[in-house]
Amino acid sequence: MQFSIKALSPESAKSGCIVLGVYSDKELSPPARRVDQAARGALREALADLPGKAGATLLLRGLPGVAAERVLLVALGERKEFAESAFREALRGAAAALRELGAKDAALYLVDLKVGARALTWNLRHAVLGLREGFYRFDQLKTQKKPSAPALQHVVLPVSRSQKLQETVAEAVATADGAELARTLGNLPANICTPAYLAAEAQKIARAFKLGIDVLEKRDMEKLGMGALLSVARASHQPPKLIVLRYSGGPKGRKPLALVGKGITFDTGGISLKPAGEMDEMKYDMSGAASVLGALRALAAMKAPVNVVGVIPACENMPGGAASKPGDVVTTLSGQTVEILNTDAEGRLILCDALTYAARFDPEAVIDVATLTGACVIALGHVATGLFANDEKLAAAIRAAADDAWDRVWQMPLWEDYQEQLRSNFADMANIGGRPAGSITAACFLSRFARKLRWAHLDIAGTAWKSGREKGSTGRPVPLLVRFALGQAGKK
Ligand code: BES
Ligand code: MN
Ligand code: ZN
Repeated sequence: MQFSIKALSPESAKSGCIVLGVYSDKELSPPARRVDQAARGALREALADLPGKAGATLLLRGLPGVAAERVLLVALGERKEFAESAFREALRGAAAALRELGAKDAALYLVDLKVGARALTWNLRHAVLGLREGFYRFDQLKTQKKPSAPALQHVVLPVSRSQKLQETVAEAVATADGAELARTLGNLPANICTPAYLAAEAQKIARAFKLGIDVLEKRDMEKLGMGALLSVARASHQPPKLIVLRYSGGPKGRKPLALVGKGITFDTGGISLKPAGEMDEMKYDMSGAASVLGALRALAAMKAPVNVVGVIPACENMPGGAASKPGDVVTTLSGQTVEILNTDAEGRLILCDALTYAARFDPEAVIDVATLTGACVIALGHVATGLFANDEKLAAAIRAAADDAWDRVWQMPLWEDYQEQLRSNFADMANIGGRPAGSITAACFLSRFARKLRWAHLDIAGTAWKSGREKGSTGRPVPLLVRFALGQAGKK
């Protein structure tokens, strides 16, 4: 899907389909009004068939006085309430209709609507991401592929071209590519997407965009003393990998941002086995890793002036004769000991060693991304990612980036009061803190390995994928991570 910026009047645009917005109560957006005038009121007449809810669509063909073959009307909801959510809904609806239609090209007259207090660049970014999201497909494992309708090849964003807007669109396309990579890695089943597969994928990115890469093997982890990571990988036939991917687009000597992604390619729970229902969804337990790869790919593709190092501990959490048992005590890379009271709390065990390892890059800040706790889904549902941080400035910057990317987070407390839930009679700490505040105690556990770091943790358990009929990876939080990294580059 190609995007180009070109100022075109809607009535004379020679396009397969022009997309026009209509507010409720038949209030036409300015481009729709122009088209209605050119068509002598034919557009307004058709409006009776357009439902008012943002995202609803109505297709018109062969309007008199209009150069485009088709006109797609998209409901925007109330004009007074037209803001980020309604804009995204409208894009989602437009994408679905364009996909159904099989149009080869379209001109999107939604982009210069006033969206709350957002600037035009915001609209453009979200238009690109929204359309790309709507056209994403994962059918590589179906033998009977649906006869593919000619996909949307070209989208015109009808605003006056400028260097700045061109860059905005290029940035958004790179972000969409990164999010798409994360989605596909998430959707791939665990018999394909193994730790070795993730490492090979990282190699591909490194080759394509000239990034530095190191993949630590089990023997390297043993030499280093990553007892926690190794304890999770023990029972699997898939060897664990610790992937380190370095992108240096920023000034030499500038401290990097470290992104650490949980890469459990399948989480059975281990000896603390999970129930069977929906266990398939634990193939998504590497979504943090996928988002780190996606973000790095995006930043490298857009040649962002930032230094970023991705650290990805990848392994499977399996039961078996060699598996860790409840009550086992392991020594982490940091030297602290952990009593494993529940082998299903494995994410924190691989992340704690990865965080300790990340410190060797002397990072400016560290953000870990993990499908860490079911409790986070209970707390925040599927809307917001859980945010935890030991540095308020870092948290504020992440909140701002998340709001801008509309890849939203909600900050939760990391107060000392919660730490006592991790008390163990036999080791420095336990790996679980009981049912109350499960996502907070998980974050508290990680914080013990980030004491010398400016660190934040994103719990994406509720936001990385969708269940049910729409089951599939979302690619979150790639847009947030990219936004955050770009924001950091803007400073200093
Ligand atoms: N990967 C899961 C978390 C998860 C569960 C994410 C369901 C999304 C949906 C994680 O490894 C896990 O099993 N966490 C346990 C922790 C508990 C044993 C303290 C959980 O949330 O139940
Ligand atoms: Mn688990
Ligand atoms: Zn897990």
